[in-house]
Amino acid sequence: MVCLGNICRSPLAEGILRSKVEGKPILVDSAGTGNYHVGDPPDRRSIEIAKKYGLDISNLRGRQFTATDFDTFDLIYIMDESNYTNVLRLARTEEDKAKVRFILDEVYPGQKFNVPDPYHSEMHAFESLFRMLDEACNLIASKL
Ligand code: 4NP
Repeated sequence: MVCLGNICRSPLAEGILRSKVEGKPILVDSAGTGNYHVGDPPDRRSIEIAKKYGLDISNLRGRQFTATDFDTFDLIYIMDESNYTNVLRLARTEEDKAKVRFILDEVYPGQKFNVPDPYHSEMHAFESLFRMLDEACNLIASKL
């Protein structure tokens, strides 16, 4: 799961997907394309909305996406088109590129819809963020 800061969208997506594949041998992780929040816990609003739905993401820490993530992971879900551009810039092969997906394409195939960055928004944006990611992760988990 990849976003820009790795403190709002992608840690929440990580927590949600992880809860849905519990017990399966699947590695779920998240990262940001930027390095502003390396080592930081998720935004308190992401922690709060996760907690509301029974998930604890408070122990996650920000890290930056690197090219070696293409070796570690089979699927790379990005949140918006700028994440897509930034992640593809690090791709080394066509195989790397083929791993990168818009997460909302799970729900709306081929539409390349963005998961809006909620950083400068109010709590209600985190509520709709949770619903969006939960719906997408249900579909992802059902195929794994
Ligand atoms: P995220 O949100 O990409 O969903 O983690 C952001 C968090 C922080 C910043 C940008 C986006 N920032 O510029 O600090």
